[in-house]
Amino acid sequence: MQRVNVNGVELFKSAFSLPEQTALRDDLRAIARAAPMFSPVTRWGKPMSVRMTSAGKYGWYSDRRGYRYIDRHPSGGDWPPIPESILKIWSDYSEADRMPDCCLINHYTEGAKMGLHQDCDEADFSWPVVSVSLGDEALFRVGGSERSDPTQSVWLASGDVVVIGGAARLAFHGIDRIKFGSSRLLEGGGRINITLRVVDA
Ligand code: SIN
Ligand code: MN
Repeated sequence: MQRVNVNGVELFKSAFSLPEQTALRDDLRAIARAAPMFSPVTRWGKPMSVRMTSAGKYGWYSDRRGYRYIDRHPSGGDWPPIPESILKIWSDYSEADRMPDCCLINHYTEGAKMGLHQDCDEADFSWPVVSVSLGDEALFRVGGSERSDPTQSVWLASGDVVVIGGAARLAFHGIDRIKFGSSRLLEGGGRINITLRVVDA
């Protein structure tokens, strides 16, 4: 495993072997069966190109009323619990002494991207954000805590872990594009990113 610092954001390359990635993929599939993926719309009413669902106490959600966490899937059902395999990743990488409230699962198909943003819908920014990439490679852009700060870009590959914490907790970040079909982990190609966060104070 190689450790890279990108504007204060820590990247752990190849944190997971292929069998570990396959097991994680299967755990995420089970979540998506219980809580189907949906396409949120931005506060400007534009559908996001990324499909998402969540596990845990809260799921992240967006519509014309804005970005927020909600305690039920939009269909009304409970969010499934965060699997042990994923809680272990949080324990191994977060250096936090409490468990996350939300595991957001983002699914990128061909052409999907995510604009530059801060993760700032949580109550306490002293907790880090831990994310894992699975499937196709993605061009990850990281800036500073001001939108106008200079950015650096790095390719995220399947099995990489990113920790956004400390002084970089409010770093602007986004996914410019994915290299569709670059991995065979997900049937039909595409990329899954999971993001673990503490939501409540
Ligand atoms: C996110 O910022 O929510 C997702 C980042 C990623 O897909 O790697
Ligand atoms: Mn984010």
